[in-house]
Amino acid sequence: MTISDDRTPPEHVAIIMDGNGRWANARGLPRTVGHRKGVEAVREAVRVAGDVGIRYLTLFAFSSENWRRPATEINDLFGLLRMFIRRDLAELHAENVKVRVIGDRNNLRDDILPLLIEAEETTRDNTGLTLVIAFNYGARDEIARAAVTLAREVAEGRLPPEALTVEAIGERLDTAGIPDPDVIIRTSGEERLSNFLLWQAAYSELVFVPEYWPDFSREVFLGALDRFAARERRFGGLAGRPPVAVRS
Ligand code: FPP
Repeated sequence: MTISDDRTPPEHVAIIMDGNGRWANARGLPRTVGHRKGVEAVREAVRVAGDVGIRYLTLFAFSSENWRRPATEINDLFGLLRMFIRRDLAELHAENVKVRVIGDRNNLRDDILPLLIEAEETTRDNTGLTLVIAFNYGARDEIARAAVTLAREVAEGRLPPEALTVEAIGERLDTAGIPDPDVIIRTSGEERLSNFLLWQAAYSELVFVPEYWPDFSREVFLGALDRFAARERRFGGLAGRPPVAVRS
């Protein structure tokens, strides 16, 4: 049985797409081929998410730490995202998908930022799946930027210090308005968060699958959702009782 049969899907699924390079290595191919196959897996994941009724799908496309990679690979990843938006934006829009981008936009290159903004603007009023692309994203950086925003508001007298609540912080994160992920899936057998959604992952279920990202098929996605569905979520409460409002 799969989640598509009769279970309510999670509202928000976030994915750490890992293993493009190893997928290519295993076939004696250049890493860039792995990234290209990875874009096909992105398309499939978006289709499956829409089909099963997931409301938010967040994909970790480029981390603030990925700048440590060789310039050629960085250019390749930027090129693939540009190509994805140019080629797929019209179809995503037609499918009622709303695109949202999280991550640091400061100093982003001129060849990528306008495209990201165009994707968000074009799909702003769509009401289907929200595809959240984490680009130039690092959770500690996101939290630090939110802290700077809050510090400014306090310094300028627009916010009293005691108003620095969990909610106030959440409203200044890149993910403001997006519910926390119910489940974070990571491919390639690695079992860590790698600076992804650290604040938002407080109560997320973690599902690690052995497949490399280019092999993330419909079956693998549904299997991961099945594993999530079998978990009991308690949000710090007691087994068998519905969660009450989560408070700090
Ligand atoms: C991890 O593989 C993957 C990435 C760093 C980038 C993911 C990007 C894409 C799939 C393409 C563009 C994205 C979109 C949304 C169109 P890795 O290179 O770290 O693999 P390795 O750990 O095996 O070396």
